Amino acid sequence: MSRSSTRLYRETPYSNLMEFPEIYVVSRGVFRAQTRGMHDTLFSGFDLGGLALDSRIVMAPMTRSRAPHNVPNALMAEYYAQRASAALIVSEGIAPSANGLGYARIPGLFDGEQVKGWKQVTDAVHAAGGKIFAQLMHVGRVAHPLNLPSGGEIVAPSAVSAGGEMYTDQKGPMPHPEPRAMTLSDVAQAKDEFVKASRNAIEAGFDGVELHAANGYLLEQFLNPGTNKRTDAYGGSTAARNRFLIEVTQAVGDAIGNRRVGVRLSPHSGFNDMPTYDGVRAQYVGLVTAFQTQGVAYVHLVGSGADDEPETQAAIRAAFTGPIILNGGFDAGRAEQVLSEGKAALVAFGRPFVSNPDLVARMKRGQALADPDYDKLYTPGAEGYTDYPVAEG
Ligand SMILES: Cc1cc2nc3c(=O)[nH]c(=O)nc-3n(C[C@H](O)[C@H](O)[C@H](O)COP(=O)(O)O)c2cc1C
Repeated sequence: MSRSSTRLYRETPYSNLMEFPEIYVVSRGVFRAQTRGMHDTLFSGFDLGGLALDSRIVMAPMTRSRAPHNVPNALMAEYYAQRASAALIVSEGIAPSANGLGYARIPGLFDGEQVKGWKQVTDAVHAAGGKIFAQLMHVGRVAHPLNLPSGGEIVAPSAVSAGGEMYTDQKGPMPHPEPRAMTLSDVAQAKDEFVKASRNAIEAGFDGVELHAANGYLLEQFLNPGTNKRTDAYGGSTAARNRFLIEVTQAVGDAIGNRRVGVRLSPHSGFNDMPTYDGVRAQYVGLVTAFQTQGVAYVHLVGSGADDEPETQAAIRAAFTGPIILNGGFDAGRAEQVLSEGKAALVAFGRPFVSNPDLVARMKRGQALADPDYDKLYTPGAEGYTDYPVAEG
């Protein structure tokens, strides 16, 4: 990584720029560092567990809040189909249960109407030649009751509330309430919800699922000792804190096939008020060692810009020899670099795909990229969503 790209990396701390539009404002301009020239590996094909990908360019999961009543719709099908030239799309975070819906207008995958809604999305993506995994995101404590349907409840490994606020349509930003600590039967139920949602994903035509164990949501809340104060089999030691994610990954793999299951991780991130702690590297090596044995489709690492991240990523690569997707602040040049150095099999791009539906073609031609309209990331309707043009040529 060059000196200038290192600086850019530091100036866009991914711990701060995930789901909050106002924070994205500080990172404008990041796309202007587009590199021209040949990117041999970036545009080469890849076999992802039997899924033939056209290039190494993945569309990163992005919540866009365009699903009123938590049901996917024709507008979302159009949005994803516009971006189907990505080698693989990872969908926005999708709740596996009513309890997992913490944000306004995000989609679910736990009832028949939602499965039907997603079917039109996957059909549109496949008709346009694309491939798509469903990202299953249970938000745990990162929620507000106003964003939950009736019967939904805010649960987490322990009764530790997140700092910060959650946007609600009714009252604007509201503090996160304290979650109810999950009983052992809640833990079993949540695992079951992931399994059922994964089966639903396959029924809805997805090519696989990605378990969202990054960015401070439920699965990561189990990993972190700051949010997991349990004294049963799911808390205490590192192995006990890893247990829930490993069990969920295994159960989902048993249901739909391990090669259809990817896992997203963000060691060192801190996002959503996750405290830092000692022993992170060894813990994540333990996790990916289990994923290696399970034979998962991939491990997807979200960069945090933390000083010790390169060592952690190297330790993860040593323990997990399957495909690794890297994400966070990449342009074509830096993507080619990590691919050709063997640090990643695939690179995911988030914000560039918001405003460049034809990102792959633009990168191939070395064309300039459009900036997203950060005010419209989460607003209802087509504006700032499906109205970004493709480039001439
Ligand atoms: C609008 C928006 C919504 C996001 N929602 C999600 C999400 O649902 N799940 C997730 O894992 N990451 C989410 N992220 C994080 C992105 O996947 C990605 O990690 C981040 O944008 C950094 O990559 P980039 O520099 O290529 O944009 C979101 C990012 C953006 C910009």
